[in-house]
Amino acid sequence: MKALVLEEARRLSLRDIDLPLAVGPRDVKIRIHTVGVCGSDVHYFTHGRIGPFKVEQPMVLGHEASGTVVEVGAEVSHLNVGDRVCMEPGIPQFDSPATMRGLYNLDPAVRFWATPPIHGCLTPYVVHPAAFTYRLPDNVTFAEGAIVEPLSIGLQAAKKAAMKPGDVAVVIGAGTIGAMTTLAALAGGASRVILADVVKEKLAHFANHPAVVTVHAAEQSLLDVVRQVTQGWGADVVFEASGNAAVFETLLDLVCPGGCAVLVGMPAKPVALDVVAMQAREVRLESVFRYANIFPRALALISSGAIDVKPFISRKFAFSQGVKAFEEAAAGRPEDVKIQIEMD
Ligand SMILES: NC(=O)c1ccc[n+]([C@@H]2O[C@H](COP(=O)([O-])OP(=O)(O)OC[C@H]3O[C@@H](n4cnc5c(N)ncnc54)[C@H](O)[C@@H]3O)[C@@H](O)[C@H]2O)c1
Ligand SMILES: [Zn+2]
Repeated sequence: MKALVLEEARRLSLRDIDLPLAVGPRDVKIRIHTVGVCGSDVHYFTHGRIGPFKVEQPMVLGHEASGTVVEVGAEVSHLNVGDRVCMEPGIPQFDSPATMRGLYNLDPAVRFWATPPIHGCLTPYVVHPAAFTYRLPDNVTFAEGAIVEPLSIGLQAAKKAAMKPGDVAVVIGAGTIGAMTTLAALAGGASRVILADVVKEKLAHFANHPAVVTVHAAEQSLLDVVRQVTQGWGADVVFEASGNAAVFETLLDLVCPGGCAVLVGMPAKPVALDVVAMQAREVRLESVFRYANIFPRALALISSGAIDVKPFISRKFAFSQGVKAFEEAAAGRPEDVKIQIEMD
């Protein structure tokens, strides 16, 4: 079967590869329709590794997918052939201690698409556990279905924050994850989201949103804006979604007494945090690793219109142009949020 295969850093090919396609009793086979290109796919493409995860043998990229069910296993009852679906890319061991506690995203044995050595989904057909395959509501497009994955990270962050109606939130970084976290914070009840990025173009999508204050952090002090908006008190929730270690020097100053900081971005190296400064205001620290039990909520929010992801789908490439899609994504046009690949 054809797939977009990362041979090693910087060498991507669209070629035939042997992939297992046997449908087990609780699996479904899906014809892939749309796959989003994620920052992590691009990082594997450009660097061949993320932290300890190294591409040591050819690996199919892609983990943000939607498609159509073409075959169902004998024991599958909630899906039928022809259903339009999106897939959760991380499959835990079903009886592991983490899964049994409801924390299946934290199962050390999780097999996550396009995290070495597990193949991703940039290929015409995949076989996937039905339990991690979700039917798209009729009014949700394949493109929207394929952006549920990064939206789920934002929603997991809002969930971990335990947001309250009227909270003032800060989101640092307006890349895909920051944009999705902003949507999630608004859906989670934020009266205002103060969204900061050092690249002005990244803020454009929210420039006219009545509840979002955009801050071009290269020219303006985020701390000053937060103090101004909150009369000096600080923000109820601060989402770190840039992954830039330098942000941590002032991160806690943005949080109000008793407030919460949610770490979503992944700095490349360990960072220092001022524990006493944190204690002096009893800042609650939360962190996020992907998501658990979020996909149905993401789909419900898109279907009801509470969240509109369509403006964030910037460009689409055909599968046959997959290598070009990655080159374009790696070039990093600042006005791009999500690039997607559609099967020809
Ligand atoms: N925790 C998780 O499960 C999880 C999942 C996916 C991604 N991530 C992480 O989230 C982070 C963001 O991912 P992304 O795909 O949106 O990346 P991205 O590179 O598209 O976005 C990061 C944004 O942060 C901005 N930025 C950098 N320094 C800044 C600063 N000092 N102030 C304000 N903005 C700044 C950049 O200009 C960029 O727009 C990454 O670190 C990624 O590894 C975490
Ligand atoms: Zn992703």
